[in-house]
Amino acid sequence: MTSPLEKAKELLYNQINEGNSKELNNMKKVILYKSIFGSTKQYAQWLAEELQTELYKFGQLSDAKLKEFDQMIIMSATYAGWMPLTGFLKKKWSILQDKEVFVVAIGGAPADDPASKLSYEKIPEEIRKKIKYTKILGATPFANAEKREQEIKKENLEKVLDELK
Ligand SMILES: Cc1cc2nc3c(=O)[nH]c(=O)nc-3n(C[C@H](O)[C@H](O)[C@H](O)COP(=O)(O)O)c2cc1C
Repeated sequence: MTSPLEKAKELLYNQINEGNSKELNNMKKVILYKSIFGSTKQYAQWLAEELQTELYKFGQLSDAKLKEFDQMIIMSATYAGWMPLTGFLKKKWSILQDKEVFVVAIGGAPADDPASKLSYEKIPEEIRKKIKYTKILGATPFANAEKREQEIKKENLEKVLDELK
């Protein structure tokens, strides 16, 4: 038989946990992105719908507004080995360093390609240690509209959603 003390402990434990999960759900999330040719924008919009999250371009929010969020998903593509998200992370790191930052890189080169590793390593190590990072496929450079449509698929985001869990 459960003693009254154990029962009280259980009640307390459940309340604390409920509080915790409420707090987690109340964390303010935002998606920030840069897209030159539109594929990152499409991914960011799908992700914002899925996660019911606010969505802004890099530079659209003031630092004061940026500070209001607890979790950030930061997305950009790769252009000749450079990811604009790297510049954004460096510029805003004093604000972002206390937050949960999940970075989604987009590019024609697969995640396990050595070129992808090189562009990832352009993010300073100090920042790399504190973020979660993944890369998903974007469009082949200069692909026509039909090919782009085949390449930019919602299902490519499954990897991101899995890692966000
Ligand atoms: C000029 C140019 C250079 C690119 N360089 C790279 C690269 O170094 N690595 C990579 O993975 N993808 C590269 N890509 C592919 C882009 O990252 C891909 O097309 C992406 O979907 C573009 O995103 P956006 O449509 O949001 O601009 C390059 C594309 C272009 C047009």
